[in-house]
Amino acid sequence: MTIVRPAKPTDADAWLELRHALWPDRSKAEHGGEIDRFFAGDAREPLTVLLAEDGAGCPIGLAELSIRAYAEGCRSDRIAYLEGWFVVPKARGSGVGRALIAAAEEWGRSQGCREFASDAQPDNQISAAAHRALGFVEAGLVRCFRKDL
Ligand SMILES: CC(C)(COP(=O)(O)OP(=O)(O)OC[C@H]1O[C@@H](n2cnc3c(N)ncnc32)[C@H](O)[C@@H]1OP(=O)(O)O)[C@@H](O)C(=O)NCCC(=O)NCCS
Repeated sequence: MTIVRPAKPTDADAWLELRHALWPDRSKAEHGGEIDRFFAGDAREPLTVLLAEDGAGCPIGLAELSIRAYAEGCRSDRIAYLEGWFVVPKARGSGVGRALIAAAEEWGRSQGCREFASDAQPDNQISAAAHRALGFVEAGLVRCFRKDL
C-alpha cells in the first residue's frame, strides 16, 4: 500500500536521492543545499514536498509543489504547481504517481487554489501520457530563452 505524506527532516537523504534521480544535471551538493534551505524555512520553492513510501516505509516517489501567480492556460492567480514528480523505476505503473497527484491536489485545495498546473519536457511522452491519464489537459508548448544581463 502506498502512503503519501509530507517530507520531514529525517527524509533528507532519501529526498536527495529521489531529487538527484529526477534532476541529475544538478550535483548532489546543490540538491543537498536546497534541501537544507527547505528544512530551515529559507527556500522560496518548493512550498511543500510529498513523499510516497512503500509498505516497508521506504520513500519511492516525490511530488514537489509550489504556488504560482501565473501558469500557461490558467485563469486564476494562485495556482498549485507541480514542480517535480518522480517515482523510482521499479515502482512505476502501479499507482504511486497517481497517489502523489491525489495528495498534491488535496494540498492545493487546502491552500485555496482552484487550479493545478504542471509542465514537462516536450519529448517526455510518458510524463505527457501520465498527466493526461490524471485529468490534466495540455495548455500549450512553450520555447524558453534566457540571456545574461
Ligand atoms: C511520470 C511518473 C511520475 C508516473 O509515475 P507512476 O507511478 O508510473 O504513475 P502511475 O502508475 O500512478 O500511473 C498514473 C497514470 O499515468 C499513466 N501512465 C503511467 N506510466 C505510463 C506509461 N509509461 N505510458 C502511458 N501511460 C502511463 C497510467 O496509465 C496511469 O493512469 P491509469 O491509472 O488510468 O492507468 C513516472 O513515470 C516517473 O517518475 N517518470 C520519470 C520522471 C518524470 O518524467 N517525471 C515527470 C516530469 S514532468
